[in-house]
Amino acid sequence: MLYEEREKLSLKTQDMKRAIDSLREELEAIDLYNQRADACNNPELKKILQHNADEEKEHSAMLTEWIRKNDGAFSKQFSEYMFKDKDVTDHENDVMWR
Ligand SMILES: [Fe+2]
Repeated sequence: MLYEEREKLSLKTQDMKRAIDSLREELEAIDLYNQRADACNNPELKKILQHNADEEKEHSAMLTEWIRKNDGAFSKQFSEYMFKDKDVTDHENDVMWR
């Protein structure tokens, strides 16, 4: 959904919206497959659904990386928070947790 007229949006913002929309759809698909796999009675179908959830995680990672590469503020935050051993709330630069 666009909140503003498309003609007023830069091409960069339009592409970022496409990436954000796609990422949201991938995350929703993961949630769907997780729930469906949990509820599934057939072991073989459960494995297929779990596999499908994992494939959506790959798609999510690809989109997340694209967003990181195309948005400096996201890149800065990812550098700060991702792949760290410390607790995510343990950041001295973030006033939110003080
Ligand atoms: Fe996907």
